[in-house]
Amino acid sequence: MSISAKTKICCIIGNPVEHSLSPVMHNAGYKALGLDYVYVAFRVENIQKAIDGLRALNVRGIVVTVPHKIDVLRYVDSVDETAKKIGAVNTIVNDNGVLTGSNTDWNGSVGALKHVTSITNKTVAVFGAGGAARAVVYGLKREGATVFVFNRTIEKAKILSEEFNLDGGFSLHEKSKIQGADIVINTTSVGMHPLENEIPIPINYLNKQQVVYDIVYTPKETRFLQLAKNQGARVVYGDTMVLYTAIPQFELFTGVKAPTDVMRSALENAAKERK
Ligand code: ATR
Repeated sequence: MSISAKTKICCIIGNPVEHSLSPVMHNAGYKALGLDYVYVAFRVENIQKAIDGLRALNVRGIVVTVPHKIDVLRYVDSVDETAKKIGAVNTIVNDNGVLTGSNTDWNGSVGALKHVTSITNKTVAVFGAGGAARAVVYGLKREGATVFVFNRTIEKAKILSEEFNLDGGFSLHEKSKIQGADIVINTTSVGMHPLENEIPIPINYLNKQQVVYDIVYTPKETRFLQLAKNQGARVVYGDTMVLYTAIPQFELFTGVKAPTDVMRSALENAAKERK
């Protein structure tokens, strides 16, 4: 469908944003369904001015990424319960000038895991207690898992655990507790450039029966996943997180079911081209 005066506009705002694969996925979905929508990316420094501008232009849907996910809370008209609990907004829907903030990061991180294993009633060890951990813990709880949080700074693990009604809050040195989990998830930045040679815990803390998931996906196979795989664990890569984050966003913006397979192959092709 060609762009006309009636075309609805959606966008992603962030800084940097040039690397985002979000436009490719959303636009492929619009095309496949013949929707009169277009999706663009804006590099934004001043979030308040950006939201004012997008509001004035009546942009339909806004995806918010780093570093604006927390600050943007102040500039929307309301924030749904999920975004409040996670403490960040990554999605804004504009309904006739009323901006509602929500959060689909948990769909992203848990969706990639659920594609490989069930989560309900499983015991999960989460490493990290930052923003990414909050979305993961929220999603895991929603799926009915028992969650324990381990962090370099124990105090932060304790605070997060209390907020989400979890037992404890632990250091990254709790070998037996980590070894007892069914699923292990790294949400720390360990493994991501410039820490690509590091791992969040000693590898002998893992056991062969575990599913090991790393939400770091640059590189696709972190050192942690490489070593876990060598030990016989089943590993889950974080690279499909962007797909599972985008699906509910697509549906919120358009009101129709997202064409998951089309969006998945658009993502895979774009990722391949980039290499
Ligand atoms: P994000 O939003 O990506 O989660 P964040 O809120 O800055 O980012 O959180 C980063 C997480 O990675 C924290 O849990 C941090 O541990 P601390 O709370 O102790 O700072 C963890 N992290 C970062 N670098 C780390 C390292 N070298 N070793 C262990 N944990 C690390």
